[in-house]
Amino acid sequence: MRKSRIAGMGYYVPENVVTNDDLSKMMDTSDEWIQERTGIKERRWVVPGEDTTSGMGVKAAKMALDRAGMQASDIDFIVFATLSPDYYFPGPGVQVQEALGIDTVGALDVRNQCSGFVYALSVADQFIKTGMYKNILVIGSELHSGGLDKTTRGRGVTVIFGDGAGAAVVTATDEDRGVLSTHLHSEGAHAKELALIGPATRRWVNEIIEENDENDISYFPYMNGSYVFKHAVRRFAEVIQEALVANSCTSEDIDLLVPHQANLRIAQFIQKSMRLREDQVYNNIMKYGNTTAASIPIALCEAVEEGRVKEGDLICLAAFGSGFTWASALIRW
Ligand code: UT7
Repeated sequence: MRKSRIAGMGYYVPENVVTNDDLSKMMDTSDEWIQERTGIKERRWVVPGEDTTSGMGVKAAKMALDRAGMQASDIDFIVFATLSPDYYFPGPGVQVQEALGIDTVGALDVRNQCSGFVYALSVADQFIKTGMYKNILVIGSELHSGGLDKTTRGRGVTVIFGDGAGAAVVTATDEDRGVLSTHLHSEGAHAKELALIGPATRRWVNEIIEENDENDISYFPYMNGSYVFKHAVRRFAEVIQEALVANSCTSEDIDLLVPHQANLRIAQFIQKSMRLREDQVYNNIMKYGNTTAASIPIALCEAVEEGRVKEGDLICLAAFGSGFTWASALIRW
């Protein structure tokens, strides 16, 4: 049966490094607190005006195409995952189509936050399995820094997030490898525990301007951190297990787990609870913070570059985040 496999990966992070000490000059926080609670040492933030979510996505996509040995013209569909699009509408998929000069192929935008890349990969996998498309560009990109509350009021959220993009060229194969299965979940009951409420159609800009309330922080992301943490550790473990069971595998069979880089403590908790060795889990949140839909493709790309992913390896991707949504993918590389 026709499968999909990742033929090439790419990533891009802005050059501008923001350390924990830099943040402590903006707000009441410390390197010690951030490292102890999250494992993050630094993140990249775009210098205002110097890049965009779609722009970073395009850079990552070019690297992925290059490594796949393909031209932009080989792509017959685009899937773009982000929670921080350049425009409220249209989504950034069309901007990638334009920037890469690809013919008028379809471009789909995925709105699944931290699970966005795994959802997007799942969509690509289904389109390839049905034979509708052959080469799909899957991108996860985020520009968080422009929309964060950089005062002490926002410290519980702001210190975690970073900017960046990752991309994969997903291609059809008749070989016995590639994406084995994907598993997608959601639970909207918790939507407001990690959300950006306004502006939106339930809270238009006019309303915000009329109220002119200096305490209105609805346009900054809100996160009930400890609540999210508790759900995350449970759902991550569940959805990884689901992927393993679906393919008659056990955690011992995993060569590399690439979890969404939400918090190093979450990844360590999963590692311990699933009895995985340190070398079975890939983390780079220390350098980039939480880049939401971009975190898995950036991490997977770095893992490939470092030789941590070899042909024939069993790779597990897993994510959890706003929605709540959570997802996993098992790949025979
Ligand atoms: O990627 C999508 C999914 N997101 C996640 O998975 C994130 C999950 N949650 C987390 O990673 C953690 O909950 C956080 C890192 C966000 C927060 O860590 P925590 O251990 O849950 O801290 P907390 O929110 O319970 O806050 C503990 C204390 C509070 O002070 P009091 O009330 O105990 O006096 C906070 O005000 O730490 C304070 N605090 C900070 N202090 C210094 C919160 N943020 C900071 C900060 N610097 N940046």
